[in-house]
Amino acid sequence: MKNILCIGAGYVGGPTMAMIALKCPDRKVTVVDINSERIAAWNSDQLPIYEPGLLEVVKACRGRNLFFSTDIERGIEENDIIFVSVNTPTKTFGRGAGCAADLQYWEQTARKIKHCAKSDKIVVEKSTLPVRTATAMARILAAEGDGGAGVKFEVLSNPEFLAEGTAIEDLRNPDRVLVGGNQTPEGDAAVAELVAIYSSWVPRERILTTNVWSSELSKLTANAFLAQRVSSVNAISELCEATGADVQEVSRAIGMDSRIGPKFLKAGVGFGGSCFKKDILNLVYLCETYGLTQAAAYWRGVVAYNDHQQERFVSRILRAMFNTVAGKKIALFGFAFKSDTGDTRESPAIAIARMLAEEHAKVAITDPKALPSVRRDLAGCLDSIVEEPDPYKAADGADCIAVATDWKCFRDLDFARIYASMRKPAFVFDGRNLLDHEALFKLGFNVYAVGKSPLTHLD
Ligand SMILES: NC(=O)c1ccc[n+]([C@@H]2O[C@H](COP(=O)([O-])OP(=O)(O)OC[C@H]3O[C@@H](n4cnc5c(N)ncnc54)[C@H](O)[C@@H]3O)[C@@H](O)[C@H]2O)c1
Repeated sequence: MKNILCIGAGYVGGPTMAMIALKCPDRKVTVVDINSERIAAWNSDQLPIYEPGLLEVVKACRGRNLFFSTDIERGIEENDIIFVSVNTPTKTFGRGAGCAADLQYWEQTARKIKHCAKSDKIVVEKSTLPVRTATAMARILAAEGDGGAGVKFEVLSNPEFLAEGTAIEDLRNPDRVLVGGNQTPEGDAAVAELVAIYSSWVPRERILTTNVWSSELSKLTANAFLAQRVSSVNAISELCEATGADVQEVSRAIGMDSRIGPKFLKAGVGFGGSCFKKDILNLVYLCETYGLTQAAAYWRGVVAYNDHQQERFVSRILRAMFNTVAGKKIALFGFAFKSDTGDTRESPAIAIARMLAEEHAKVAITDPKALPSVRRDLAGCLDSIVEEPDPYKAADGADCIAVATDWKCFRDLDFARIYASMRKPAFVFDGRNLLDHEALFKLGFNVYAVGKSPLTHLD
């Protein structure tokens, strides 16, 4: 029975390996990372990421067949199947800056594997990577010198489709698992090894096997399509605001068409998270590399509209509040990029808070999980920002509430109490269409929801 190593103990590596350890109790699973603080957190009850149900899974396996360590060399030596789940952010320098994937962490990992390997390995790309990266990885692993002599490496692509906030459920019951391999006898054998692991709990018909490039491209395409739905419905929300249509009614009507389906049709302040923007820009870069300028422009538009939606949200706040928020207190409800996670990477709340700070508003940010990231994410405009764990205190004396994250706990707040504590006229800008707008209006609020006509007492 081959044992498993995962390099990279982040949002993907940690939960994915915990689920494999849970479902394959006879395999030893080790997760390693260069970040010793992260590993220490994985070995404690304060896990480095918040994800519903994760702690229970980790506790069931940790010390039994799930181990977290910083000893990367030993991990490579001792294990036969090596998942690579390191971060692949957008490049910030040189060619392709702002668009292409920064593959430095990934290449360092490939070289490390080669350097330390003394027996044959199956290397599994779990990170999201540009098309044909597996070939590049195979070349590095096969190059002469710096270890790896006589060792055979087989590289597979096995992109992860989990969504933060529902990672455990997504891993327990995935729509599909994708395994891409070389179409050679060695490639087929490696694919079969990985399929055997997932078959422990995933029905065989949901495990798809493809060639490596199709697998790599499928991941980028899945994220591009999901993000495109968000930008499409947001573009309609702008039209709804201009015409008096209601975007929630339009979404419901189109979502019942079985060809369209109801998911990812919620208008709001736009998508965030570490993946959508990065992966679309990656796709754009790939298209440009192959000279496909129209395809590149098409996908770039999805990201551009997302930025526009956030600017539009802030412009609407300004217009409604008599064209100035200078000196006004704004309670920003939510900082995570979506509910049920503490992750703030590319969160729309960051752009919104920055734009409000530029307008000299005082922004009181409340969030059940993400406040520890505020100081880092809003560096440079902290004079305008306070963090406030208690939403009632955040709203106390405020002129408006702006909802940036769809945390369900915000829906259950006592808005009569909140209204009483705010300056009048009091406004709500619901950037997630989360709250009961009619009820808020009846309490006295002026309510602005995305893709809807305002409910206002000011006319
Ligand atoms: N976050 C998601 O929801 C999600 C979903 C699907 C796919 N992905 C993809 O998975 C990959 C990882 O994403 P993530 O969100 O887990 O990132 P992350 O930043 O949370 O974790 C990456 C980890 O890799 C570690 N690392 C970097 N270089 C290393 C090295 N040389 N050796 C050992 N460890 C190293 C970092 O310290 C970090 O802990 C990315 O390619 C991402 O696009 C992410």
